[in-house]
Amino acid sequence: MVGEGDDRGEGSRSGLTLSGNMDKPTLYRELNTQLAGLFAGETNGVANAANMCAVLYHGLPTLNWTGFYFLHGQELVLGPFQGQPACVRIALGRGVCGTAAQRRQTLVVPDVHAFPGHIACDAASRSEIVVPLLQDGRLLGVLDLDSPELARFDSEDRDGLNASCKLLLEHFALYEHGPARP
Ligand code: SME
Repeated sequence: MVGEGDDRGEGSRSGLTLSGNMDKPTLYRELNTQLAGLFAGETNGVANAANMCAVLYHGLPTLNWTGFYFLHGQELVLGPFQGQPACVRIALGRGVCGTAAQRRQTLVVPDVHAFPGHIACDAASRSEIVVPLLQDGRLLGVLDLDSPELARFDSEDRDGLNASCKLLLEHFALYEHGPARP
């Protein structure tokens, strides 16, 4: 929930040096340059995904949630995020996240209340964008951004966030030394 004293409105870029009133493509270029710097020399998937959430959540205006779900079997499971606590497991094909994952397609939802099966994790959310993470044709999960504003996301967000995800996937290994064995 966006509470009192929260400074996440339009033009506020808490902690970042990006100035307000930048057009979206320029803002995404700046954020993606910042991400490339953070990812350089690091392939830990959780660390890079966590930093990416922080950069996007604090760098983009009017968001109330930014995070990842990673595919485990037939389910998406909550990963690093910024915002209110969220539902942990989403079946493939369910909600906006599960639908984008199943279709392997970025979904821009201008009004979440009009999306059949939308899963409401934060009642403040009014619009949403979900980008599937595809590495060499393999579905790894999704990136999900929510906004309290109707129709907050458009094709410029889709392009900017797809570029962010491409950068992440170039620096993304969930297990650095193979999965833990009992
Ligand atoms: N709204 C999503 C669920 C995840 S939360 O928004 C964090 C959906 O419908 O899949």
